[in-house]
Amino acid sequence: MSRTPAAPKRFDPELIRRGLATRHFGKPFYSFNELTSTNDLASELARGGASEGTAILAETQTKGRGRSGRKWVSQEGKSLTFSIVLWPNLSQDRFSELTLMAAVGVARALERKGFSPTIKWPNDLLLSGRKVCGILTETGPRKDKMISAILGIGLNCSQTTKDFPLELRGTATSLRIQNKGRNPSQAAMLREIFLRLEESYQWVREGKFHRVLTEWRKRSALSGKQVKVALQGRSFYAQVLDVDERGALLVRTDVGTIERLTVGDVETLRLKPPKI
Ligand code: BTN
Repeated sequence: MSRTPAAPKRFDPELIRRGLATRHFGKPFYSFNELTSTNDLASELARGGASEGTAILAETQTKGRGRSGRKWVSQEGKSLTFSIVLWPNLSQDRFSELTLMAAVGVARALERKGFSPTIKWPNDLLLSGRKVCGILTETGPRKDKMISAILGIGLNCSQTTKDFPLELRGTATSLRIQNKGRNPSQAAMLREIFLRLEESYQWVREGKFHRVLTEWRKRSALSGKQVKVALQGRSFYAQVLDVDERGALLVRTDVGTIERLTVGDVETLRLKPPKI
């Protein structure tokens, strides 16, 4: 694994540490120029006993990954690309709670900085309908009876449209594009994210997942929408109804059955959908 500490000029970790008002998130905080994936190093550190909230940031990743085995590319110096080690004390069947809580935490942080994000199930954050942030929650190593979770977040900050590969230009955006050329400092943004994530994580820890769900539903980009669902090699049209208390998406299919989705991809229909 390649690990070059970040040159202070570009991303000074001191700027993050200074004035970070969290109890655990971002403490400690490590920053690198290049990693395979911040999730890889976070997992390795968790195996070595890294404490809850340990955060790892990289300017670039050589093997950045997204959901469903997709690649994730971060443009150097223009994204916030980081992972956080969690020891949530949850059984693995409740890890989906972390997925939704992460989306809520980042959404609330963006709102504090003047943006109006929506959440596309399970945890893509959209601005004006385009993806600005992706979140990947992975099961990490075990220690005694505890299972760690690795929360990986990629937020597009200062890209212009031209920075995105052609195939993403129609669907991706950045804080800078949405904020008419200006964007909050990456350090301030990251501190806010750590703070809001810690808050929503605390709700999960205290057994108050209903608070996460309420906040998630308020921002849902898909409620009531006609969508195309891609699921394990098959696809079908459906209408989105809700998320349930486990974070699964409830949809009514075009043949009238209710499906509960825990994996899969959902795409909003641009063309006129078939009658449901
Ligand atoms: C997705 O939208 O499919 C999730 C993307 C998650 C990307 C982040 S960037 C930091 C962390 N390291 C990775 O390799 N992936 C996550």
